[in-house]
Amino acid sequence: MESFEQDLVRALREVVSGSNWQCVGDKEKFRTRCTKLYSESGEDIVLIHPEGDRFYAMDSACPHEGGPLELGDIEDLGKGNLVLSCPWHDFEFSLIDGSSSSGLQNQVYEVKVFDGKVYLKTQSTLSLTPLKTSSLHQSDMPSESTQACSLENTLCSWAAKILCTPDPEEKATLTHQVQELWNSGKITEIGQSEPPAQPSRKAELTVLHPGRIKRGKGGTLASRIALLHSLANIELWAMDLSWDIIVRFATFQLPNGDRLPREFFTDFVKVAGDEAKHYMLLQKRLVELGCFFGALPVHNGLWQSAADTAHDLLARLAIVHMVHEARGLDIQPQTRNRFATQGDEASIKLIEIIYTDEITHVAAGLKWFTYICSKENRDPVSTFHELVPMYFKGYLKPPFNAAGRQSAGMTEEWYLPLVKPAHKEA
Ligand code: FES
Ligand SMILES: [Fe+2]
Ligand SMILES: [Fe+2]
Repeated sequence: MESFEQDLVRALREVVSGSNWQCVGDKEKFRTRCTKLYSESGEDIVLIHPEGDRFYAMDSACPHEGGPLELGDIEDLGKGNLVLSCPWHDFEFSLIDGSSSSGLQNQVYEVKVFDGKVYLKTQSTLSLTPLKTSSLHQSDMPSESTQACSLENTLCSWAAKILCTPDPEEKATLTHQVQELWNSGKITEIGQSEPPAQPSRKAELTVLHPGRIKRGKGGTLASRIALLHSLANIELWAMDLSWDIIVRFATFQLPNGDRLPREFFTDFVKVAGDEAKHYMLLQKRLVELGCFFGALPVHNGLWQSAADTAHDLLARLAIVHMVHEARGLDIQPQTRNRFATQGDEASIKLIEIIYTDEITHVAAGLKWFTYICSKENRDPVSTFHELVPMYFKGYLKPPFNAAGRQSAGMTEEWYLPLVKPAHKEA
């Protein structure tokens, strides 16, 4: 009998090793309620252990804005309905199926405990220790006095100066002034300047690694403020990203030796102007609610994409404007709902203004991506499908705002092939 059991266990082990079930360790090892499992594919997973032999697993990057779900709280909504709530903006995800009342959906994984060991069903190889480390930390951020900037009257020298301006309101004001000077022909030269390695931030701003921001709860006003504050941070980075693409790729050459047309610069000056407007609107709203930008810690996660694509304009357009900015369109309905359920009409109005502008930003990314591909004789859609997995961690996640993406000219053929297969089947 004993040998039959041993045979059975051995046979089961063989089945497990030949399947997608992966042993992640002894059950006893997982004493904390949430454990991050690092994945080779970049799709890290959080193993959730509310009690006893009950284990659950889902993607650790929140489908909203990538918040660290391994730092989230497990809550019981009653009748055994357990959810994991994100530490950044409190959106909650069912441990059973990853669904959320916000309409967002997280990817969940099957977990089983067998013979004292925890098995998780996934094709990616998992590890308890990080496989790759992010290069962005607070100490990497230049603050007020660390950058030298040139002062000629060219678009690039102004772009570099704005990138080197730490005060966000001054950055936004300068952005609007330069937009006006460029549009009225008072700046005519594109010029050439060295962009700073990273844009400057005020020394008082607490910049944390994305995984280290924990907002906690504090009632509806606090969660609204946290959401507005994180949006303001995104707009501030978006402003810098627009100036960075201008100055960093000013000397980009097309295969025939030509430079980018003037219209490229005009388009991104307009994007910068919109982002400055968005930042100012959000900052004003924060002040109306008794807060201000900088009162909460922020992360510089968006800049990682800029650093990763600093050498490749097509990759920059793909990742920053056609992945991240398009994701902004996807999450707009959930963000709007968050304010709607709290009757915050003023914030809703603002979210709607931003949304309309953001469609044009995705459209600008798509327009110039397609333009460069056509000059380089490359198929734009398949080039996009090659570049995204190279520079973006993980897969693209539904739900997609198909209507918003469509208004920007981005049809499903661009993004659906980049969705994880399980999501496609769902
Ligand atoms: S990032 Fe998770 S709720 Fe916003
Ligand atoms: Fe914006
Ligand atoms: Fe934008």
